[in-house]
Amino acid sequence: MKILLLAGDGIGPEIMVEAEKVLAVLALPVTLDRALVGGAAYAATGHPLPPETLDKAKAADAILFGAVGDPRFDNVERHLRPEQAILGLRAALGLFANLRPAKMFAGLEDASALRPEVASAIDLLIVRELNGDVYFGEKGTRTTADGQREGYDVMAYSESEVRRIAHVAFRAAQGRNKRLCSVDKANVLETSQLWRDVVIEVAAEYPDVTLTHMYVDNAAMQLVRNPGQFDVVVTGNLFGDILSDQASMCVGSIGLLASASLSEGKQGLYEPIHGSAPDIAGKGVANPLAMILSLAMLLRHSGGDEASAARIETAVAKVLADGCRGADLGGDMGTTALGDAVVSALNNQT
Ligand code: NAI
Ligand code: MG
Repeated sequence: MKILLLAGDGIGPEIMVEAEKVLAVLALPVTLDRALVGGAAYAATGHPLPPETLDKAKAADAILFGAVGDPRFDNVERHLRPEQAILGLRAALGLFANLRPAKMFAGLEDASALRPEVASAIDLLIVRELNGDVYFGEKGTRTTADGQREGYDVMAYSESEVRRIAHVAFRAAQGRNKRLCSVDKANVLETSQLWRDVVIEVAAEYPDVTLTHMYVDNAAMQLVRNPGQFDVVVTGNLFGDILSDQASMCVGSIGLLASASLSEGKQGLYEPIHGSAPDIAGKGVANPLAMILSLAMLLRHSGGDEASAARIETAVAKVLADGCRGADLGGDMGTTALGDAVVSALNNQT
């Protein structure tokens, strides 16, 4: 398997080092390559996703991605901003299905923003559509008839886009607890009404899965009131972005949530759900566990190596159960120390 490492900027390079340590311990038959992306690429080449990086990405079986979002470049033209690199990769590689699992780790209940007895029940998977919605619709600024500036971003989903993400979500539910909640805003949005209609059509092919629907505002509320009710949640790009950050705080920290972005084929991109965290970049305090768990997802989905994925997840769970905590979880362990703890947990596995 050819893995491309795209560390990016901000805390990306710091946490990528820890994932590489974990990969080294596993001693798997993989070839590694590296390329610049985001702010690091913009600083070196003037573009956040240079052609050589995109070529390497297309040639890789899997991509492990750190984070992008260097505030030094916040005021460059939008298409040159570091964040455009991840949007560009999602579009160019057809990464339409974003899987974002959130599960309560034993021993972390006290770190959740929720009451421990509510938080302990969390074991859900958000399936977020990643190639459509307002992020990819027509956008721009214009002047209204009365001379005001107006910004616009078009929200649109075609039925084929909804159908393919629905299939991913139903299959994921079949492999879990067979419950799927589709989140939309069908009471006010045409896009959502079509979404709901198509999800209901697809449901006919999965009679073993129980399908429910929820409006996104209620879903945000239910996610903190009773997150244990959710098994798989399927939703659009914008709602999924917001709900998954919310889910992260329910399990303790955004530094714990990994994700897989999958295409129709075997290729995938794997990244923590957080961004480049410029407020803590360079301080050695970023939590590397979301990055390390993203590597586990890579080995499972693109490598077909369930055993190695499970080994990593078991090691991370052990480290957290042993009380290892970074600053994001109220502890004082730095990025390197946390990575070392995972490495030693792996080495001690029997
Ligand atoms: P963020 O996720 O980078 O940070 C939000 C908060 O969480 C910050 O206080 C940060 O310190 C903390 N945090 C994030 N990851 C952490 C970790 N591993 N350990 C400990 N604390 C952590 O989101 P924010 O601040 O809204 O965005 C920063 C930049 O990242 C922006 O330029 C944004 O566009 C970009 N971004 C990039 C993403 C990507 O690369 N896929 C995703 C989200 C945002
Ligand atoms: Mg986000």
